[in-house]
Amino acid sequence: MPSIISGKKVLIGVTAGIAAYKIASLVRLFIKSGAEVKVVMTPAAKDFVTPLTLSTLSKNPVHSSFYNEEDENAEWNNHVELGLWADFMIIAPATANTLSKMATGNSDNLLLATYLSAKCSVYFAPAMDLDMYKHPSTAATFQKLQSFGDIMIPSESGELASGLIGQGRMAEPATIIDFIEKDILGKLPLKGQKVLITAGPTYEAIDPVRFIGNHSSGRMGIELAKAAANLGAEVSLVLGPSSLKVDHNSIRVIPVVSAEMMYNEVVGLYDTCDIAISSAAVADYRPKNVANQKIKKSDKSFVIELERTTDILKWMGANKKNQFLVGFALETQNEEENAKNKLVKKNLDLIVLNSLNDKGAGFKSQTNKVSLINHKLEIKAFELKTKAEVAIDIFNEINHLRDA
Ligand code: CTP
Repeated sequence: MPSIISGKKVLIGVTAGIAAYKIASLVRLFIKSGAEVKVVMTPAAKDFVTPLTLSTLSKNPVHSSFYNEEDENAEWNNHVELGLWADFMIIAPATANTLSKMATGNSDNLLLATYLSAKCSVYFAPAMDLDMYKHPSTAATFQKLQSFGDIMIPSESGELASGLIGQGRMAEPATIIDFIEKDILGKLPLKGQKVLITAGPTYEAIDPVRFIGNHSSGRMGIELAKAAANLGAEVSLVLGPSSLKVDHNSIRVIPVVSAEMMYNEVVGLYDTCDIAISSAAVADYRPKNVANQKIKKSDKSFVIELERTTDILKWMGANKKNQFLVGFALETQNEEENAKNKLVKKNLDLIVLNSLNDKGAGFKSQTNKVSLINHKLEIKAFELKTKAEVAIDIFNEINHLRDA
């Protein structure tokens, strides 16, 4: 499974401590985890590790001043842009000097100005000698920075550069990565939440070799499952016959074939879930009698009597306790009115409206164009997007409505 850090933009601020040599390996580990890395350094940090090493490993230029003094065409190194670029910043090693400047708003170098401009989470990994670490002034600095919302990655005990033994060593690069991963995972908006999703078509048997089905690929529901899992949820995906593969540690796939099988699985899972999303294209009818043997053709026309399947979503609406319930409506005419009626009739909190009149929306495509209608019957219309992006929009709306 990819690391939660994969795809993240990481800004590393290096200050002048002996542990700066370990930042080469920290940069490598971030890159290996799939992150994009940029480095800023204090001028003095360049005595401990070269910008060339860090720019080579990070595949990005490394800056330590507001402009490059040796280059007469030098451009301004924009600390605001750097701060806004990052998903998170980590100051490592963080010396007592830099930490105290961060705590007092001093910005006499590029790293400090970038820290003050950053709107993202900031981690700091202190590195100093044990008496400096223990000093009340340092403790007050740690406290002040934490009161700003900065996150401290505690130093480790061991032999220090001075030869003394005690706390003050910068956490090892692997420990830093592990700490940040756990911190991000622990703060995900759906951490500890159970999400139930139905997806794909259902097949209703006519005889042992034939069925009534539909063209649903299951893609929209699978993307919803992935989006929920990436937000920290534990996902149960009740999936009708689909050729798509699902591979995610936090998604339990429960394969089903017919509407009845899907209903039985949903009944077992519904009570304990926090959010339920019904994206499956469930057959509304099934053959009343299923032949035991393959039906032989004759010269006469052939009639199959159909009976209604259980409306699974309607059952969920009728049995709703604290669940947040989301349904889909695929419409070809009077779209908004039909979708609103379904939302009310099935006791939903949100309905996702697909119109088959929109190009690029619907069953077989990789894209979708949806409108979201909430319980107050307010509508938000979205552009044509990939189904993965639509899934993120849907969860943003769910989280927003649940927080309201
Ligand atoms: N649904 C369900 N169980 C069924 C049928 C539908 O859970 N037996 C769910 C779908 O997953 C979807 C929503 O209900 O979330 C669709 O509502 P529905 O009223 O069935 O719409 P259509 O299937 O489009 O049917 P129609 O417009 O003909 O009423």
